[in-house]
Amino acid sequence: MTTSQQPRAQWLGRWGFVLAATGSAVGLGNIWKFPYMTGEHGGGAFVLVYLACILAVGVPVMMTEIAFGRRGRGSPIDAVRRVVAESGRSPGWSLLGWMAMLCGFMILSFYVVVAGWSFSYLWKMISGGLAGSGVDDMVAIFVANNENPLNLGFWSTLVTLATMLIVGKGVQAGIEKSVSWMMPGMVVMLLILIAYGVFSGGFGEAWRFLFSFDAGSLSSDGMLAALGHAFFTLSLASGAILTYGSYLPARASIVRTTFSVAVADTLVALMAGLAIFPVIFANGMDPGEGPGLIFMSLPLAFQAMPLGTLFGILFFVMLSMAALTSAISMVEATVSWLVDNKGVTRRTAAWGSGILLWLISTLAMLSFNLGADWTFAGRHFFDWLDYLTSRWMMPLGGLGMVLLAGFVLKSETFRDELGLSPRWYALWLFMVRYVSPLGILVIFVDALGIARV
Ligand code: PFF
Ligand code: NA
Repeated sequence: MTTSQQPRAQWLGRWGFVLAATGSAVGLGNIWKFPYMTGEHGGGAFVLVYLACILAVGVPVMMTEIAFGRRGRGSPIDAVRRVVAESGRSPGWSLLGWMAMLCGFMILSFYVVVAGWSFSYLWKMISGGLAGSGVDDMVAIFVANNENPLNLGFWSTLVTLATMLIVGKGVQAGIEKSVSWMMPGMVVMLLILIAYGVFSGGFGEAWRFLFSFDAGSLSSDGMLAALGHAFFTLSLASGAILTYGSYLPARASIVRTTFSVAVADTLVALMAGLAIFPVIFANGMDPGEGPGLIFMSLPLAFQAMPLGTLFGILFFVMLSMAALTSAISMVEATVSWLVDNKGVTRRTAAWGSGILLWLISTLAMLSFNLGADWTFAGRHFFDWLDYLTSRWMMPLGGLGMVLLAGFVLKSETFRDELGLSPRWYALWLFMVRYVSPLGILVIFVDALGIARV
């Protein structure tokens, strides 16, 4: 089936995979989505369930996905098919790979719109378009930025082009090279912003909001949201991590790299929360504002800071880069599948995917202006993409993966790939057989209302 004659690419540097996977994980999910979801779902209780899901579900699923990728050395579809064949099981399991690939593509279709917000705010910062605006002005500016489809479409198209340009260059020259300098800078920026938050007067309130657990404040919907977000933030069940794992050299430790990525991602999300909520409370804004939250609150903070414009520019540069390093990972599964199975060059595969992506993301973008009335069951197309992927496709895809690994396939496969001592291997098996699936199922059943009396 494979038409390319060269051996499959591998990460060049020792840190190649960790940087690329962290680049994939750390993105808009941490800085844009995590704060506004925490706000919408009531704070500490949401954070607690989210952290539990990262540990009990996210980490085991990530190890399993990387192992699938490295063992199968291919796109999610090909890798799962090969690994399943090794155990003599039905090729039908590769449907999981198809769903993951589709999921990554669907996420990317709304992700480029949000990344477009980031790029447009970077431009506003540079051109002085936010100077002197108060709380109400910030809300109006956000609305106005969305109202014109040509404006919004321009920015999401720019993101699409940048994504395809990087992916088209290849695993080492495109992806690995770009992540190796974009990642470190982001951490520095966040630390500076937290330092600002500490002095803004709202830090204590923000800390309590994030970390005080009030059991009554979390709905079933909030729990499902927290589970979905654990998948989203770690880039799971969407083809990204599995495909990056397919480029992982044989000697690298899957367990160690998984923990590095998960810890880094979690820290960035919590840091983002500690940077953003103080500003929100100090300015009397509503933490449940929704998707526009950081675009309205952070520019306010920057104005009050000495050298605020400079910090603002740096922040939106970093946010845009974080978004890009995630965007490239979402389409890599599709591109590598096209290259391996359709006899096209990487460049052609990237631009072909880019055209399709542009069409779908344009539809998503129109949810904010021309298509403001186009809703189905109360959701816009943009919201549907987000809702279907995070709440349903990712948890179900992850459930399929752990059940497949835990119960269906030969145990040698994962014992070899994970390189664990018998005791740790037993723990991994216990997690993928019981803890992760039950965690997912309990939240599902609860959300479906079956368990409610
Ligand atoms: N993990 C990314 C974030 O938190 O922004 C989003 C993401 C990337 C989801 C790649 C899925 C994916 F395949
Ligand atoms: Na993330």
